[in-house]
Amino acid sequence: MAAAAAIAAARPAFVTLEGGEGSGKSTQAKLLAQALAARGVASVLTREPGGSTEAEAIRALLVNGDPDRWDPMSEALLLFAARREHLRRTIRPALAAGRWVICDRFGDSTVAYQGYAHGLGAEVIDRLAAIAVEGFAPDLTLILDLPVEVGLERAKGREPGREDRFERMGAEFHRRLRDGFLDIARKDPGRCKVIDATRPIDAIHADILAQVLALAPGRAARA
Ligand code: TMP
Repeated sequence: MAAAAAIAAARPAFVTLEGGEGSGKSTQAKLLAQALAARGVASVLTREPGGSTEAEAIRALLVNGDPDRWDPMSEALLLFAARREHLRRTIRPALAAGRWVICDRFGDSTVAYQGYAHGLGAEVIDRLAAIAVEGFAPDLTLILDLPVEVGLERAKGREPGREDRFERMGAEFHRRLRDGFLDIARKDPGRCKVIDATRPIDAIHADILAQVLALAPGRAARA
C-alpha cells in the first residue's frame, strides 16, 4: 500500500515534538499537521503547557515572571494540573473522534526541565505522571536536538519579555536540559527519535514526516 494510503487508514496516533528553547518545534509541528492533511489525515495541533482553556491559564503562570518564581516541585505540579486538563478537554476527545494529535511539548519536557535541569529527578516525575495522568504517553516523540548556544540565540530573536521565563534560567540549566532529552531518547529508543535540528527546515521536516509515516504499518487499519 502507498505510504499516503497507509497513513490515512491507520489508527490515530499521539505524536509529540520536544526539544530545548529555539529548537524549531512549533514550526515543525505546523508543517507536520499540513503534511498529514495533504495525505487525508485529520489532526489536532496543540501545545503544552496549554492546549485547553484552563491549561492555557496555568501556562501564563509558568512562562512569565521571575525564573525563581516557583519552587521546582510547585512548577511540576502546575504542569501536571495543566496536562490533566489538556488530556481531558483536548487530547483524549480528539483521539476518540478519530483525529491524530500533534503536540508541541508533553511529558518529556517535564522530565527534562523539572526532572533533569531543575534536579527533581526523572523518577519523581514518572511517579507524578503515574498519579496525575495515569502514565499516558505519546506513540511517537521527535526530539529536536541542537547545541544550547544556537537554540538560546535563536530564541533571543523573539519578542523580548514575552514568555521567556525558562530562557532566562542560564546556560548550565539548558545544558542539563539537552543532556536530559538525549538521555530520555537513549532510554526509550522505540518511542523517541532524535532529530538533528541544526539543518534547514525542509530537511528536518522530511525526517519527521518519514518517522510519522513509518508508524502506519504498526497501527492496524480501523475496523
Ligand atoms: P514553549 O516555549 O515551547 O511554548 O514552552 C513553554 C516553556 O515551558 C518552555 O520554556 C519550557 C517550559 N516547560 C517546562 O518547563 N516543563 C514542561 O513540562 C513543559 C510542557 C514546558
